Amino acid sequence: MITDIKSALRWGRFLLMEENNIDFGSLDAEVILADLLGRERNFLYREPDYPLTPDQRSHFRDLITRRAQGEPLAYLLGRREFMGLPFYVDNSVLVPRPETELLVETALVLLGGPSPPEGSAVNLPPAPVTGTVVDVGTGSGAIGISLAHYSTQIKVCATDISPAALEVARHNAARLGVSDRVAFFSGNLLDPLDPLSIKGKVSIITANLPYIPSVEMSQLPKDVGAYEPHSALDGGPDGLYFYRRLLPRAGEYLAPEGYLLMEITPGQGQPLQALAPAGYTTRVVNDLGGRERLVIFRAPQAKNK
Ligand SMILES: C[S@@+](CC[C@H](N)C(=O)[O-])C[C@H]1O[C@@H](n2cnc3c(N)ncnc32)[C@H](O)[C@@H]1O
Repeated sequence: MITDIKSALRWGRFLLMEENNIDFGSLDAEVILADLLGRERNFLYREPDYPLTPDQRSHFRDLITRRAQGEPLAYLLGRREFMGLPFYVDNSVLVPRPETELLVETALVLLGGPSPPEGSAVNLPPAPVTGTVVDVGTGSGAIGISLAHYSTQIKVCATDISPAALEVARHNAARLGVSDRVAFFSGNLLDPLDPLSIKGKVSIITANLPYIPSVEMSQLPKDVGAYEPHSALDGGPDGLYFYRRLLPRAGEYLAPEGYLLMEITPGQGQPLQALAPAGYTTRVVNDLGGRERLVIFRAPQAKNK
C-alpha cells in the first residue's frame, strides 16, 4: 500500500522494473514522484517517510501505470530538456533527442559561436552571415528555438507539415522568449516559405526530418512506435524520402556557401552524400559514440541555375 514516499517508490519501481522491464524504471519512478510533489529528487532521499495525500497517491498510480504501458516519460511530465532549455512536449511532437544536439552545436559553430566543451568534429569555414536560418520539420521547435536562443543575431523561419506540432513550437518560442525572432510556417518542407523574399539568402538550413526506413517502423521500441507521431518518424522505403525532396529545393534558398545540415541514422551517410546536387561539398559527422549522425552539405560559391 502507498502511504509515503518510500512505499510509493517501492511500488513504482516494482511495477516498472520487475513487472514491465522498463529501462531506468527506478529513475523514472523518482522523477515522476519528485515532479508530482514539486520537489527536487534529493527530497525523496531526505524525507522517505513524507506522507502522500490521497490525491497525490492516485495521481502517482495513474502516471506510473501509464509509464508501465510504455508512454514516454517526457509526455507524462510535459517537458524534455534540450540544449539546456526546457521544452514543452506532448504527443503531437517527437520528443527531442540528445543526439540532435550535435546538429545544433554544429550549426552554432558554423554561425560563429564557440566550439562546444566536448569539441566539435567540424572544422569548416563559417556560414555566410545573412542573419537568416531555416529549420525544416521543426516539431517542438527544439532545433530552431535553440539556435535563436544561443545565436542572438539570427532570425529563424521554421516549418512543419503538422499544425498541432507548430502550436507546440509556438508555445515553446513564447516560453523561451524568442517569439520575435522565430517565425513558424505550416506546410510541406520549404514550400510555405516561397512567398518570403529569402531565396538565396539563407545562411543555414537545418533538417531533422523523418528518416526511419518504413520496414523498421514495426520494430521500434514500444514507447517510440506506439506513442510518438509516425509522421515524425517514417522516412519511406530507405528513410531518405524527405531528404531526397528537400535537397534540390534547399539550393534555391541557400546563400552561396551556405550550409544544409541533415540528421541521419547510421548507414545513411554515403547514400545521402550521393544525392548532393552538382557543386556541393559534403561531410558526414559522427556522434561521440562514433556513429554517423549528420550530413553537412555546403552550397557552391556561385550557385548553379
Ligand atoms: C523527426 S521529427 C523532428 C522534430 C524536431 N526537428 C526535432 O529535432 O526534435 C520530424 C518532423 O518533421 C515533420 N514533417 C514530416 N513531414 C514533413 C514535411 N513534408 N514537411 C515539413 N515537415 C514535415 C514532422 O511533423 C515532425 O515534426
